[in-house]
Amino acid sequence: MKLPIIAYGDPILKRKGIEIDKDYPDLQELIANMFETMYAAHGVGLAAPQIGLGIRLFVIDASPFADDDPALKDFKKVFINAEILEEEGEKWSFNEGCLSIPEIREDISRYPNIRIKYVDENWVVHEEDFTGLAARIIQHEYDHIEGKLFTEKLSPLRKAMIKSKLEAISRGQVDVDYKMKFPLLKRKGR
Ligand code: NI
Repeated sequence: MKLPIIAYGDPILKRKGIEIDKDYPDLQELIANMFETMYAAHGVGLAAPQIGLGIRLFVIDASPFADDDPALKDFKKVFINAEILEEEGEKWSFNEGCLSIPEIREDISRYPNIRIKYVDENWVVHEEDFTGLAARIIQHEYDHIEGKLFTEKLSPLRKAMIKSKLEAISRGQVDVDYKMKFPLLKRKGR
C-alpha cells in the first residue's frame, strides 16, 4: 500500500525518532509499504518520519545509481535503530533531493566514509562501513530519523533564497506526481 509522504513544514520531520523493538506492530508490512511508497515516488530512500512515524527506521534502494557506482547494483537495505558510530574523510559535495521537499535540489557537503550499527528486517545486528554514494544516501536518511533535513545544512544565503519555495511546499503549492500530505494546506468546505 502506498502511503502519503509528509511534506516540508510538518513538525514530525523535525522530531528525533525513537527506537523500536522486534514486536513493533505489523513491521514487515510497514517496511513493504515504505518500499512501495518510495518506488512510486522514484526515490532511493525513505525514512519513517516521512510517512508520519517518529521511529528509527529507514529503507534504501540505491540501485538507480548503479551506473555511477557498480557497488550499488543490489543495494537494497532496511535500517532499524541505526546509529552512526563514525564519520570521516574529506567532505564532498553532491546534489541532493528529498521526497518531502519536491522540486528543490541542493549541493550538500558530507563526509565520505561512515561506520554504522543497525538492525535489519530479520533483526540481525550489523556494524558496517559504507563509502561514497551509499554512505551519502544513508547519511541523508539517517538525518531524517534524527529530525534533520538537508535544507538545514545550507548557507544562510541559500536558505534565504529558497525560503518562499519551502513555504509554498508546506501549503501544497507544488507540482508532484505522488501522494503527499501538506501541513499548511487549507481544505475548502471542511
Ligand atoms: Ni529526504
